[in-house]
Amino acid sequence: MAKLQWGMIGGGEGSQIGPAHRLGAGLDGLYNFAAGALDHRPDVGIEYGQRLGLGDRAYGSWQDMLEGEKKRDDRIDLVTVATPNATHFEITKAFLEGGFHVLCEKPMTMTVEEGEEIVKVAKATGQICAVNYGYSGYSLVRHMKAMVARGDIGKVRVVNAEFAHGHHADAADADNPRVRWRYDPAQAGVSAQFADCGIHAMHMASFVTGQEVTKLSADIVSCIEVRTLEDDAMVNFRMDGGAVGRLWTSSIAIGRQHGLGIQVFGETGGLRWSQEHPNQLYYMPLNGRLQVIERGEANLSPEADRTSRVTIGHAEGMPLAFANIYTDLAEAIDARKTGREMDAAANLFPKAEDGLRSMSAVVAVAQSGKADGQWVDARPPSLR
Ligand code: NAI
Repeated sequence: MAKLQWGMIGGGEGSQIGPAHRLGAGLDGLYNFAAGALDHRPDVGIEYGQRLGLGDRAYGSWQDMLEGEKKRDDRIDLVTVATPNATHFEITKAFLEGGFHVLCEKPMTMTVEEGEEIVKVAKATGQICAVNYGYSGYSLVRHMKAMVARGDIGKVRVVNAEFAHGHHADAADADNPRVRWRYDPAQAGVSAQFADCGIHAMHMASFVTGQEVTKLSADIVSCIEVRTLEDDAMVNFRMDGGAVGRLWTSSIAIGRQHGLGIQVFGETGGLRWSQEHPNQLYYMPLNGRLQVIERGEANLSPEADRTSRVTIGHAEGMPLAFANIYTDLAEAIDARKTGREMDAAANLFPKAEDGLRSMSAVVAVAQSGKADGQWVDARPPSLR
């Protein structure tokens, strides 16, 4: 496979998620980091981009980058959008329309309407629009999905997902501008904690079970009273294959760090996995014994094997999960460039439709939460 040209918007020095993308994209030698508009401050972005080796393709703004890259014969194939949420729609749309494939950070947009628009633009332009639900790249998450699909736990009855942390639990710090904006509807939209973290857990519930969320009922609270938007939510949902879903997300769960986890209970077995211990998957067959499945061990699914890189017993973490999204995308892009069928096993990266479904769930959670937990349709209009 010829090396692809890759660019990045956002993810500047000191950003939270920029380094994980650069590590992930760089891992397999499939991409050349060629261009970037890395910071909202043009000078700072150019200086950092040059330090990372981008030369004159370190741009001061995403608009300059779009224009500059459009003119080049060796233009980037894929751009990652890792800026703050409210900018995702405009940048993603512009790059898709400019003829570039896009990997957009979550949430893909701020509204359902924008999400619908991105899905349409991706279809019309023929460009790939992926969304970074990067935790779906973990080897054992892929294995869990494969086990569910081949019937190892039978028909799924209940899926229980959560994403809880305690990093916004300090009431005395609630007015700190770095925290406050997240709970301010003018800047964050209709939801805070569910839109930020809950959607990862909900995407994972769909990814692992192969079912989509149809309707939901939400109990949302602002435990810290000055907050307008929720810092804790409990969401009940139903899925189109009959599974019942339970999801808890919180930012005031003191002692929890990055508590993304999932449990899937079927008619003949159960599975349990958590992000903080991603190299073990717990499998309990009905009336059997609890088994600990280790990433990298023999006789796992092909989906797990192709996404596991470091020898068994050595920790693999989040940047390597992101790397699996980049590897999938490289396969999809190369297949298009060379006019061949893509390897179906790589077609697991989250798509614009997943970003749209999440946005619709975010709006549904806000709506249901305000209506005392009334059940509401969680599907976007175009996917009903
Ligand atoms: P951050 O605030 O740490 O960094 C944002 C970066 O974007 C900064 O370098 C800033 O200078 C740059 N930036 C802002 N506006 C820009 C513009 N117009 N042009 C170019 N650069 C610009 O934010 P963080 O935490 O890295 O989050 C970025 C995005 O990634 C958010 O949408 C967030 O939801 C998402 N995220 C996703 C995670 C995941 O697991 N998939 C985890 C953490 C964040």
